[in-house]
Amino acid sequence: DWTAGNVIADQVAAIKAQIGDARVICALSGGVDSAVAAALVQRAVGDQLTCVHVDHGLMRAGEVEQIKNDFVASTGVNLVVRDEKERFLTALAGVRDPEAKRKIIGREFIRVFEDAQRDIIEEAGEAGEEVKFLVQGTLYPDVVESGGGEGAANIKSHHNVGGLPDDLNFELVEPLRTLFKDEVRAVGRELGVPEEIVSRQPFPGPGLGIRIVGEITAERLEILRRADAIAREELTKAGLDHDIWQCPVVLLADVRSVGVQGDGRTYGHPIVLRPVSSEDAMTADWTRLPYDVLSTISTRITNEVREVNRVVLDVTSKPPGTIEWE
Ligand code: XMP
Repeated sequence: DWTAGNVIADQVAAIKAQIGDARVICALSGGVDSAVAAALVQRAVGDQLTCVHVDHGLMRAGEVEQIKNDFVASTGVNLVVRDEKERFLTALAGVRDPEAKRKIIGREFIRVFEDAQRDIIEEAGEAGEEVKFLVQGTLYPDVVESGGGEGAANIKSHHNVGGLPDDLNFELVEPLRTLFKDEVRAVGRELGVPEEIVSRQPFPGPGLGIRIVGEITAERLEILRRADAIAREELTKAGLDHDIWQCPVVLLADVRSVGVQGDGRTYGHPIVLRPVSSEDAMTADWTRLPYDVLSTISTRITNEVREVNRVVLDVTSKPPGTIEWE
C-alpha cells in the first residue's frame, strides 16, 4: 500500500544503508523537493547532514531569506549559504542556448558543492572524515524527462539529472526518485515540514536563468525579478495560489517592441505570463485567470518596470509547449 509513512520507513532504511556514518550534504534550493529530501535524510542520519544553499543569483526576490528563516527555523538543520552570484554570471556570459545554459548551471552547481565539501571537511578537522554523498530532490518526472526513464525522450536536461558532469566526485542520494509531486508533498507533511514550504509552487533549479530568453545578465535578472515579484504578489492577493500549479514569468530579452509610455516612444521588452494547471507537470493546461487580475498585473508591470512595455499571456497547453520556455 502506498502511504507516506511507508515511503518514509523504506527511504530512511535505504538512506541509512547507503550512507552509513559518513557525512552527507544536501543541495537546498528553497523548493519543496529539496526540502523534503533534506528532511528525509535528516530523519535517517541526523546531524551527519549539512545543507548547502547556493545563491547563484538566479533566485526570485526574497528567496534566500525565506530559506534561512522558514526551513532552518522549523527543522534545525545545519545550513551553509554560499554567495556564488559572480561565478554563475561569468560562466553564463554570452550563452543563449537553453540546453547550454542548463548544462553550465548544473556544472557550476556541482563545482560549488565540491568546494563546500572541501570546506566542511576542513572545518570538521577530523582525519579521514568523508563527505562523499550529495542529496538531491530529483523526482520521477525529472528522471523521465531527462531521458533517464524507460523509453523516454530527452526533452530537457533538468539540471539535477541530465546536467551533471561525468567526473562527479559524489555519490548521489535521491530518495524522491520514484515519487510524483503530490506524493512528495504528502511525505513532507508527514515529516512535519512546514506548510509554507510543502505547498509552495514548483520552481526550477536553474531558476530565472531559464526564464530569460536570450543572454543572462545582472540587469536582465533584475528586470525579471521585479516583474515576477509583482505577478506573484497579485496572484496571492487574488487568492489564486492554490488554483494554479505555477506561473512562470518570462523575459523575452532578445525581443523588443515599440510602445508609448509616459512622455514618449519606448522600445522595450515583453514579459510573458505562463500560468498553468497540472497534476504532475508531465502535462498541463493554461489557467484561465480572471481578466481583472491579468489587467492589474499588466498595468503594474508596465508602470513599475521601466524596461518592459508589453505583457503577453501564454495560452498553450503542455504538450505542445513545455511549462518553462527553455
Ligand atoms: P517543463 O518546462 O519541462 O517543466 O514542462 C516541468 C516542471 O519541471 C520544472 N523544471 C525543473 N525543475 N530542475 C528542476 O528542479 C530543472 O532543471 C527544471 N526544469 C523545469 C518546471 O518548473 C515545471 O514545474
